[in-house]
Amino acid sequence: MRLLVLGGTSFLGRHVVTAALDRGHEVATFTRGVSGDPPAGARALHGDRDDAAALPAALDGWAPEIVVDTSCQTRAAARNAAAVLGGVRGYAFVSSLNAYATWPPGPIGPEEGEPTWDTEDDDYGPVKVYAEREIGAAVPGRFLTARAGLIVGPDDRVDRLGWWLRRIARGGRVVVPAEGWDQPIAAVDVRDLAGWLVQMAEQGSAGAVNATGPAGMATLGGLLELCREVTGGDAEWVRVPKAELLAAGVEPWLHLPLWLPAEVARTAWDVDTTRARELGLPSRPLAQTVTDTWAWLRGVESLPPPPHGLPRPGLPADLEAALLTGR
Ligand SMILES: NC(=O)c1ccc[n+]([C@@H]2O[C@H](COP(=O)([O-])OP(=O)(O)OC[C@H]3O[C@@H](n4cnc5c(N)ncnc54)[C@H](OP(=O)(O)O)[C@@H]3O)[C@@H](O)[C@H]2O)c1
Repeated sequence: MRLLVLGGTSFLGRHVVTAALDRGHEVATFTRGVSGDPPAGARALHGDRDDAAALPAALDGWAPEIVVDTSCQTRAAARNAAAVLGGVRGYAFVSSLNAYATWPPGPIGPEEGEPTWDTEDDDYGPVKVYAEREIGAAVPGRFLTARAGLIVGPDDRVDRLGWWLRRIARGGRVVVPAEGWDQPIAAVDVRDLAGWLVQMAEQGSAGAVNATGPAGMATLGGLLELCREVTGGDAEWVRVPKAELLAAGVEPWLHLPLWLPAEVARTAWDVDTTRARELGLPSRPLAQTVTDTWAWLRGVESLPPPPHGLPRPGLPADLEAALLTGR
């Protein structure tokens, strides 16, 4: 089929293109051309999706049959896609668990029962929900919104898992939270999500799906141990209690990626993914994701900045030094 990827040159979008080409689709990507080229074999169309005239001009008569939309971050982008792509047979949209007004801290039960944002501001969650509604109304019954959890794997510019891998590989005394090692966590491998999105668009599947791995597929401590095993580093864990981390100015999730204080973590990772499993979203073992992410990272000279103005994750050197002093 003629498959249009809105995005397609960076993390998730690149993997969507690869999966779509592997499945025999004729693929075009639509990006501004700032983040590089799509994988070989895809046609690169250029324009800014915030500009209403750009997508029709770039398509120039090429009529996509199905769409995977990884790049929607503004209300204008949503309206412009809805105006042009209403006739497609399937539209798989990448949203976020942040679509839920109650998350974090959650928990998130089955999709239908959970309230989503309904505000006018341009925060991440409300914009994703606006896009779900706007594009969903234009493609009724053929629009699937994948409310993604933590996405990990090769090509990840957001760099949460990547930071842990590099820090642990460097070895020595590594600050880790003292508590919460048994905390169940979940993530979705970018390749699992990408291939599945293509299938969902092919099938014209509809509705909202909590698109992440099954809660408890791993624990935080298990992930850190995996990072140490895969990188072969000699890291020595220096376990710092939550109260001391917070008092020192450590920002959960940002400075120690994936770490949340227990009272938030317990519910934030508790996401019902029954529908995702029913619809066949795969969940490869985290060990494979960590191994492949490390293999990719070792070949990367310098990472581009995280997208959408997100801050670079990781523990600042001065904060790490202060936390290690006297231990
Ligand atoms: N990382 C996570 O853990 C996580 C969790 C939940 C949900 N999500 C969602 O998952 C998706 C991740 O997608 P992604 O990794 O493919 O990358 P992304 O960083 O969201 O999107 C970047 C892609 O969109 C293109 N793009 C950006 N602005 C554009 C514009 N104004 N007009 C046209 N194209 C534009 C970029 O190319 P150019 O720069 O060349 O334009 C690039 O190909 C996002 O929607 C994100 O919100 C991520």
